Amino acid sequence: MKKESGATLPVWMNHEQAPVRQVLRENIACDVCVVGGGIAGLTTAYLLTREGKKVVVLESKEIGGGESSRTTAHLSNALDEQYYNLIKLFGKDGARLACQSHARAIDKIEQIAKEENIDCDFHRVDGYLIATSPEEQDKLMQELEAVQQIGWPEVVLRKHCPVDSLSTYPCLHFPNQGRFHIMKYLNGLAKSIQDKGGQIYSGAHVKEFKSGAVATAITTEGHSISANHLVVATNTPVNDKFAIHTKQAPYRTYVVGVQVPKDSVPDALYWDLKDPYHYVRLQKETAGDETFDLLIVGGADHKTGQHDNPAECFEELERWTRLKFPMAEQVIYRWSGQVYEPVDGLAFIGRNPGDEDNVYIATGDSGHGMTHGTISGMLITDLIMERPNPWAKLYDPGRSGLKGVGEYLKENLNVAVQMKDHITPGEVDDQMEVLPGTGRILRKGATKVAVYCDPNGVRHQHSAVCPHLGCVVSWNSVESSWDCPCHGSRFDPYGKVVTGPANTDLGPAK
Ligand SMILES: Cc1cc2nc3c(=O)[nH]c(=O)nc-3n(C[C@H](O)[C@H](O)[C@H](O)COP(=O)(O)OP(=O)(O)OC[C@H]3O[C@@H](n4cnc5c(N)ncnc54)[C@H](O)[C@@H]3O)c2cc1C
Ligand code: FES
Repeated sequence: MKKESGATLPVWMNHEQAPVRQVLRENIACDVCVVGGGIAGLTTAYLLTREGKKVVVLESKEIGGGESSRTTAHLSNALDEQYYNLIKLFGKDGARLACQSHARAIDKIEQIAKEENIDCDFHRVDGYLIATSPEEQDKLMQELEAVQQIGWPEVVLRKHCPVDSLSTYPCLHFPNQGRFHIMKYLNGLAKSIQDKGGQIYSGAHVKEFKSGAVATAITTEGHSISANHLVVATNTPVNDKFAIHTKQAPYRTYVVGVQVPKDSVPDALYWDLKDPYHYVRLQKETAGDETFDLLIVGGADHKTGQHDNPAECFEELERWTRLKFPMAEQVIYRWSGQVYEPVDGLAFIGRNPGDEDNVYIATGDSGHGMTHGTISGMLITDLIMERPNPWAKLYDPGRSGLKGVGEYLKENLNVAVQMKDHITPGEVDDQMEVLPGTGRILRKGATKVAVYCDPNGVRHQHSAVCPHLGCVVSWNSVESSWDCPCHGSRFDPYGKVVTGPANTDLGPAK
């Protein structure tokens, strides 16, 4: 389970996966083609098969093989962006709708698990937003006022959260949140989709999208799926070169899974108000030993491709965990993943701007991808079924970026600054300086080359220029990948694309 870098697979990947490997060997025509087998894609596919649509899902890797399996799977409508910010951006009505949509998403997951008999450890738990300083206490009070303004009276201020060691300051108590086991849920969804006549193909990478009255997705092997509707649920849209990618920013976030004595930490969700914030939950069913629960702690976020030594993020998280949870014992999981932060705090779900009306995207889901992904399923299903949906305007991908204009400028300035990497020196002068199991950037004349040395000492060279919009990639020593600091594309050590928006591999080294 250990990788070279010290990272492990996420806790959910220990679970035996349902056999959902179907190999695509022909061209297919269908009602709806869904690209992406994460929570957004599978929820959409599931709800549409229930409507009687003929649905085909294409997934590059395996079901859940993207960010969904890397989640910590808090289910919450206490949004990270904070309701006092959302009220400023979307007004009280917009913030209320956002709150309701995430609450409905948790209900929907609970309902699907029940109706389809998916044993996915779904539990309703309370959530606690914790202040740890007088300044944070002020923010907490602002948030309390905001949730009262949007009509959520069940949220109350408490003197202390249930874990004494977390903070001596007050907290907000959010009842009726949730937690679950994402891979058990996705495998159950995949089975239900297939039982209802849907088709799921894993190992099917879509390399080309064609819009039109009938939309077409063409795979690397050359098979085409023609559909009346095309849903691109690839976490970040790989069918969009520019527009959406200026309105969201990619961040790496880190997780440690630590054994704690059984029942020593109350089963709840905990978040603080730091920037980046910490997020904590329990997984009582998968601690590996009956005498322990697994405490899952996340945080230490930074912009993708912009940390020199990401292993420090695990160390920082472990230090924080031991300080706040003195009962913490052995760390048995460490993993990282990527989230896309939209400039105004809400996901982009609906028709792809500038495209045909039958092409839909679901992206920008921040730390709330479980609920945003479920909202995607409900909202896109309504759009395809031509039913009104109260959230359509709120999540419209074509909405003005001006709502979060400060963040928009900050993130796009940050992207522009990354272009400096084209003129800086390489990290090494000679490829022989690159050690086994690592990657470094080498300057070759006017260009930069990504050099990876495999465990046998063989050096592999690729162009270091990201095929999306041309920024220079950097080596991620935790995940052994080449990460683009601009819009978050990632490539494996041999240059093969892992995460969009790039949809092709790193080019050959010139
Ligand atoms: C460490 C971490 C903790 C998190 N914690 C939480 C949490 O507690 N609560 C919460 O709500 N959210 C959380 N999130 C966010 C959440 O996990 C994600 O936002 C969510 O899983 C995204 O789902 P998705 O379906 O949009 O994308 P993905 O799960 O990434 O699915 C997209 C799929 O598309 C496939 N794909 C991409 N390109 C192509 C192509 N060209 N052809 C075919 N297939 C393609 C990929 O292989 C992938 O499987 C967390 C994320 C991380 C990383
Ligand atoms: S992801 Fe946009 S330039 Fe690399």
